[in-house]
Amino acid sequence: MAHPDRFLLAGLMGWPVMHSRSPKLHNHWFAQHGLAGTYVPLAIRPEGLGPALRALAPLGFSGCNLTIPHKETALAFVDEIDGAARRIGASSCIVVRPDGSLLATNNDGYGFIEGLLEADPNWRAGADPIVVIGAGGGSRAVIDSLAERGAREIRLLNRTPERAQTLAREFGGPIAALSWDERHAALAGAAMLVNTTSQGMVGEPPLDLDLDKLPTSALVADIVYIPRETPLLAAARARGNRTVNGLGMLLHQARPAWKAWFGIDTEVTPELRALIEATM
Ligand code: ATR
Repeated sequence: MAHPDRFLLAGLMGWPVMHSRSPKLHNHWFAQHGLAGTYVPLAIRPEGLGPALRALAPLGFSGCNLTIPHKETALAFVDEIDGAARRIGASSCIVVRPDGSLLATNNDGYGFIEGLLEADPNWRAGADPIVVIGAGGGSRAVIDSLAERGAREIRLLNRTPERAQTLAREFGGPIAALSWDERHAALAGAAMLVNTTSQGMVGEPPLDLDLDKLPTSALVADIVYIPRETPLLAAARARGNRTVNGLGMLLHQARPAWKAWFGIDTEVTPELRALIEATM
């Protein structure tokens, strides 16, 4: 819980880290809640991660978020890894517990689902097929959250097929790894399409995907948020599909972090969204 006699501290460990919008997001909540505290970017080289994590408790930090390249390696330095972080194989958030021990959790999948629900409150994972493109870290969080929500068929496609097959083996259940050549045809009958690759991000070429077979009723989600509308989302919107970008995922993954660090419920308001969008 927050204490009036304590300056609240949290931050983001990454390398590089200065491009991140997270300090703006978290510092908005400190101001909104009238709390003395701050969220700082922490530029931590890979070899410095262990000492940096161990310093959180003595420095009085409530915890931190993790970004590239620390999400997987952090698991080696913590005292406990929760279910989501274990299944995903990576941590997005470290919580310093009252005794100073470190808990690794992962809120990316939660953020993804909340972002979908914000765009479409009636969205359900349901029985209809979901197509997920990509098999990197973002994909692991998305797949885990969809499986947790009861998705019964996830068609997983990745340029490097072995990575998709590994995920299908690991997560089992609803996941079927298809070959990269099948990605256009795999859209037939899908209720949702999710891009978890870096394709379409600023500076990257668009995702090479022909949407002809995708039902116009399908929801199309991209975990990329810069640009706000990737070429994939623009093409989907032009043919009548509903679309969701990755900004909701970024904003909503921060809420469970605040609950765990400070015991405070936060909200993603239109004002907060506009504040972050103004930096994009
Ligand atoms: P992250 O952890 O952010 O997801 P990553 O592990 O590097 O990052 O994964 C990036 C994803 O984008 C992978 O699925 C990658 O496909 P490969 O496994 O074949 O590398 C995908 N990706 C990157 N460049 C791509 C391209 N030109 N075409 C298709 N997929 C691409």
